[in-house]
Amino acid sequence: MNPQDYIKREDKYGAHNYHPLPVVLERGEGPFVWDVEGKRYFDFLSAYSAVNQGHCHPAIIKALTDQAARLTLTSRAFYNSALGEYEEYITKYFKYDKVLPMNSGAEADETALKLCRKWAYKKKDIKQNNAKIIACEGNFHGRTISIISMSTDPDARNDYGPFTPGFIIIPYNDLKALENALRDPDVAGFLVEPIQGEAGVFVPDEGYLKKSYDLCKSKNVLFIADEVQTGIARTGKLLACDHENVRPDILILGKALSGGVLPVSAVLADDEIMLTIKPGEHGSTFGGNPLAAKVAVAALEVVKNEKLAENADRLGKIFRAEFSNIKSDMVELVRGKGLLNAVVIKPKNGKEAWDVCLAMKDKGLIAKPTHNHIIRFAPPLIITEKQLMEAIGLIKEAFKLFE
Ligand SMILES: Cc1ncc(COP(=O)(O)O)c(C=O)c1O
Repeated sequence: MNPQDYIKREDKYGAHNYHPLPVVLERGEGPFVWDVEGKRYFDFLSAYSAVNQGHCHPAIIKALTDQAARLTLTSRAFYNSALGEYEEYITKYFKYDKVLPMNSGAEADETALKLCRKWAYKKKDIKQNNAKIIACEGNFHGRTISIISMSTDPDARNDYGPFTPGFIIIPYNDLKALENALRDPDVAGFLVEPIQGEAGVFVPDEGYLKKSYDLCKSKNVLFIADEVQTGIARTGKLLACDHENVRPDILILGKALSGGVLPVSAVLADDEIMLTIKPGEHGSTFGGNPLAAKVAVAALEVVKNEKLAENADRLGKIFRAEFSNIKSDMVELVRGKGLLNAVVIKPKNGKEAWDVCLAMKDKGLIAKPTHNHIIRFAPPLIITEKQLMEAIGLIKEAFKLFE
C-alpha cells in the first residue's frame, strides 16, 4: 500500500472528525517518527504534548509489556497490586493527599467539575443545583457535552446544544473580570489552563496565575488547573503553575502521564476536597487499571531521571531565540514557555499555516496548525540541543520556500 491508499481507507471507513496532515506514520523512537515509506520526521507535535518522554521510551515500554503479560484490567470492583503503588507514587510526586485515576483528559476535567460541585454542596453550603464554575474564553478542556458547554469555539459547540448550565465565562488573562465573577456567592471553582494550548499557546501575563489564585482564596473558591497539556515538564517546570509557585486546589493531568503509551489521566486534590466523593458516586471501568498504573509510574520516573523540565526550559529559550532570527514576513510572532511554543503566521500570496506545515513535512518535520494561522511547536522533551538545531534548520529551509 502507498500513503494515498492508507489515507483513502481512513477517509472511507472513518468518521471525518479530524483533518490530518497527509503523512502516514508507522514507527516512532525518541523525537522521531517514520512514515510507511521509511522517511524520518522530527515530531514537533508530540501527540499534543502526550509524548513528552519521546516515542516508545524503553523504560515505559518495558513497564507496559511486563505488566501486560501479568494483569491488565480488574475494574475497581477489586483491589489490584499495582494501583496503590501508583497512587502513593503520584501523590508524593505532586504533593497531594489523594489521586482519582481516569483515562482521557476530558474525563479528568469532567471529574474535576464534579468534584468541585460536590465540594460546593458538602463543604461550601451552596444551595443544591446552584453551584457555578468560572471558565475562560478560548479554553480547551476536551470534547464532552459539559466541557464544550464552557467552550467559546464555534467548531467545538455548533449544533451540539442544549448545553450544561452552571458555567460563567470570562476573558482569559483578565483579573478584573475574575474579580467581578467571583462576587457571585454561588461560585465554587475557577477552571483555568495555565497556558492556553489549543487556543494557540496563549501565555498569560506574569502574575496572572498567582493573583487569580489569591482572588479565589479570598472568596473560598477552588482554583482548578487544567495541566493536561502544560503539565509534566512541558513548559520548563514540572507544572506550569510552578512558574508562579501556585498550588492548585484541584490539579488535572493527562497526556504525558503515560508518555503517550496509554490514555491515563488523573485528578489530584487534598482530602478535604477529594473525600467529598463517596464510593459509588464516580468512576470508570478502566480508570486505575494496573497496566496504566505501572506505565504512569515509569513515565513519571523518566521525567525526573532525565530532567525533562530542565531540558524543556533550556531548549525552549534556544528555540525562541533561533526562531526570532528567521527572516520571513510570514512569521508574525513567536511565543511560548519551555518547549510549548507557537508561531503566528501572516498569510502570504494565499499561503497559510497549513502550507508551511506541508513544506516542513517535505523537509522532514511535522507540526500542525491550530486555528488556521498558528503553528504549535512542541517536540518530545528528550530532544537534544543538536537535534533541536537540526530541526530548526529544517524549519528555516521550509520558510525560505515562501520568500
Ligand atoms: C488543556 C487540555 N485539557 C483537556 C484536554 C482533553 O484531553 P483528551 O483529548 O485526552 O480528552 C486537552 C487536549 O488537548 C487539553 O489540551
